[in-house]
Amino acid sequence: MSHPPVAPAANPHFQRLGGHEQVVRPVDASYRAMDTLPEAQVIRAMHEPDLGPTKAVLVKYLSEWLGGPKAYTTERGAPMLRRRHQPFPIDAAARDAWMLCMRHALTTVCADEALRAELDAAFYKVADFIRNTDGGGTARPHPGRPQELQPGVVAAPHSSRAG
Ligand code: HEM
Repeated sequence: MSHPPVAPAANPHFQRLGGHEQVVRPVDASYRAMDTLPEAQVIRAMHEPDLGPTKAVLVKYLSEWLGGPKAYTTERGAPMLRRRHQPFPIDAAARDAWMLCMRHALTTVCADEALRAELDAAFYKVADFIRNTDGGGTARPHPGRPQELQPGVVAAPHSSRAG
């Protein structure tokens, strides 16, 4: 008996990366990098001494962001990442420090270069979206409606102005 073709998942990155364990590992590795890299000191200082709870939330968020189980929104509601990061002064240097940690982590857990490049680009979009200061105390205005912040998800066309 033949089966109808199965439509590919809208966002297959969770599966491509290798499932739950392969999300836990880069999260662990990126916070380890944050703990040890001198370039990351400024963002490490924004976090609590115990990174355990933050790691657990990030694993849930990323699982969902990558197309896996909806573990984050069922518990914490809409991500609203820009708003949730508003208490922290995130400038270009903080964004780059976060990316340095995540890149470091992805290099250690993901051998697939193409996948790594896709994830890197998607992480960068989020990290830059939540940047909220240009440094020197100047607030950075909201950059407008987020566009395609998930890896591999094509933004729906819209005609309204971003806001
Ligand atoms: C750009 C540099 C970034 C800095 C400096 C930063 C820093 C922080 C800090 C200090 C917290 C609070 C931790 C806590 O309360 O335990 C946090 C929470 C969080 N961050 Fe970031 N972050 C950055 C980028 C990102 C990116 C790119 C993502 C996602 C791809 C992300 C996802 C999250 C999530 C999901 C939380 C928890 C939100 C919640 O409370 O539900 N962050 N971040």
